[in-house]
Amino acid sequence: MKHLLKLADLSREELLSILNLADQLKYERKNGVVNETLKGKKLGMIFQKSSTRTRVSFEVGMYELGGYALFLSNRDLQIGRGEPVEDTARVLSRYLDGIMIRTFEQKEVEDLAKYGTVPVINGLTDYCHPCQVLADLMTVRERKGSFKNLKLCFIGDGNNMANSLMVGAVKTGMAFSIACPKGYEPDADLVKWAKENGDVTVTEDVIEAAKGADVVYTDVWASMGQEEEKKLREKAFAGYQINANVMKAAKKDAMVLHCLPAHRGEEISADVFEAHADEIFEEAENRLHAQKAVLCKLLR
Ligand code: CP
Ligand code: NVA
Repeated sequence: MKHLLKLADLSREELLSILNLADQLKYERKNGVVNETLKGKKLGMIFQKSSTRTRVSFEVGMYELGGYALFLSNRDLQIGRGEPVEDTARVLSRYLDGIMIRTFEQKEVEDLAKYGTVPVINGLTDYCHPCQVLADLMTVRERKGSFKNLKLCFIGDGNNMANSLMVGAVKTGMAFSIACPKGYEPDADLVKWAKENGDVTVTEDVIEAAKGADVVYTDVWASMGQEEEKKLREKAFAGYQINANVMKAAKKDAMVLHCLPAHRGEEISADVFEAHADEIFEEAENRLHAQKAVLCKLLR
């Protein structure tokens, strides 16, 4: 494993090995064990979009591993003024041991890896969000014991989260269902791959998707960069909400996860959010452990 550009690039073994290391790092942190595996290593973090969790968990993660993280906003970098990614990649590779990037186009992340010489980590694109899904899978396994015979259901936009969750579910052997309005399905090529390799359902019917689910997941209706579509999307996604009625269709002990930030009253009702807040915030905490594992694998 040289980079983390998308989950589809990881073998099942690589994915499980990241999760195992993440569990170990979480245990160590809880027990006050100092683990400076990345002593002296430097990570650049390019942000072309906002972030709370990704920024803070990467920065804290590098610090805890004995390394250093630089926050690089596109407002300050020359990349924001049109310097090509090919040049940025070659320059940053001479200063840094790794680069994390959050941006719009997946191609920009792939190009950074292609032209640079250090590991590149995708911190979210319009296409996928692999770091989030590693933390999600970690949370599911932690709470359910294993992935065996589980069904993960996603309700809402077939966006970056849905794409990565579908791949993550198939790779770990979970059944996956998504309920989304027509025209908002996940990436067609990924759906094709997922259906060929796993138990995958794409439907417009929320209750059908949630039926018997062990994990119910949602994300915002309008992602970063889609702010102008907010009104249109509110209409399209009306009814695509995780609420008490939807939870009745899922298993009695079903978990609810949300990558955050959450919009109560839109993709999730306030009561369901609060009833599952413990799972959701543990999921957010697990970003730190899962990313530390990725950093150790790539930068060591
Ligand atoms: N879930 C997630 O990636 O959160 P941030 O946008 O705050 O980084
Ligand atoms: N789909 C959301 C995820 C945020 C973590 C977005 O791209 O804005």
